[in-house]
Amino acid sequence: MTAPARILVVFGTRPEAIKLFPVVHALKADPRFECVVGVSAQHRQMLDQVLTIAGIVPDHDLDVMQPDQTLDALTANLLIGLGKVMDAVKPDRVIVQGDTATAMSGALAAYYRKIPVDHVEAGLRSWNIYHPWPEEVNRKIIGAMASLHFAPTTTSQAALLKENVDPARVHVTGNTVIDALHWVTDEIARKPALAGGLAELEARFAGRRIIGVTSHRRENFGDGMEGIARAVRDIATRPDVAVIFPVHLNPNVRQVMNGALGGLDNVALIEPLDYPHFARLLSIAEIMLTDSGGVQEEAPALGKPVLVMRETTERPEGVEAGTAKLVGTDAARIVTELSTLLDDKRAYEAMARAHNPFGDGQTSRRIVELLAHEIGQ
Ligand code: UD1
Ligand code: UDP
Repeated sequence: MTAPARILVVFGTRPEAIKLFPVVHALKADPRFECVVGVSAQHRQMLDQVLTIAGIVPDHDLDVMQPDQTLDALTANLLIGLGKVMDAVKPDRVIVQGDTATAMSGALAAYYRKIPVDHVEAGLRSWNIYHPWPEEVNRKIIGAMASLHFAPTTTSQAALLKENVDPARVHVTGNTVIDALHWVTDEIARKPALAGGLAELEARFAGRRIIGVTSHRRENFGDGMEGIARAVRDIATRPDVAVIFPVHLNPNVRQVMNGALGGLDNVALIEPLDYPHFARLLSIAEIMLTDSGGVQEEAPALGKPVLVMRETTERPEGVEAGTAKLVGTDAARIVTELSTLLDDKRAYEAMARAHNPFGDGQTSRRIVELLAHEIGQ
């Protein structure tokens, strides 16, 4: 029997951890592979929340996060740190996911060592390098170096082909976020207490219509965040509404949201939720209001109307499916769109249909088989 291929899975932020834990689980269960987990900890607490739930203990942990880190210092530390991990692990292949600084630096460090790097969630494009910023360029850089491109949908496949990526290297696999969502839903079904921590809030807001909010995008810092905060403040004046807003730990987000929304009766500004509790919020919310990438993928799968506080999206599938709508960050526009969904039953029902544009929950299994084929196993 040939030795198992050593795969180094690199990640560092909450969304990467959520979208890669199903791949780690699948690789660890497969004797054709030896799976080594290297985390940058670009996020510390929000990464650890996912590692704990998913039962993953990293083999390498760079612990790079600094308060209010700049993109250049972060990227420099990541490149050097991840390179050292690769020198120690000597992997046959490296896996990165998405478009964060960790993913881009991990891919670059692998490329500098001529180690093939495989990209999960490849081919997302907004075609605007400042929306989202810096993610649009991060994923293009990874796309230029990747060996295998695991595109979630035919839209992302088409984007890669438009950039002249070899079609034989691009595989439409679905998005692992749906695997993660299925996994956590099963976990909650087995152990309901995993998502029971919102009970007090749910009792406090009983009878009110819940709006779930998340926000963190760098391009929304400043005017965008102020607009979002004003919109939430305004909609919360309605007596029939309550807002549950797990606030991202980025100080640029917390300062604005705590200042504008702290102390309001029917706005709960809470700490970031672990994944089971966030899944619970997705299920009890009538509407999600977000600038997140991942939430735009989870909401269509659950048939949850999602208003996306961005000017453009690299995930047009949710908009095309009718579950997501781009509303920007202008407060008046957000309030108008929210009010329409709250007051017009037909408008709400037109959006509240479950679709599956991001896959069937078998994406990690497909990725592992494609990797096995690639290594000749
Ligand atoms: C990062 C990613 C973004 C992704 C987002 C998901 C980059 C450039 N940005 O943005 O693509 O959508 O994560 O959430 O890769 N912080 C903590 N604890 C944590 C996490 C963050 O305190 O667990 C604070 C720190 O002060 C940190 C700051 O948030 O310096 C910013 O973190 P960073 O990863 O640089 O940026 P995000 O906005 O989180
Ligand atoms: N999420 C979570 N707890 C929260 C907010 C979000 O577990 O309090 C999950 C969410 O379900 C999604 C992911 O985090 O899977 C999205 O992460 P984020 O919005 O930070 O990053 P993005 O997807 O925009 O890169």
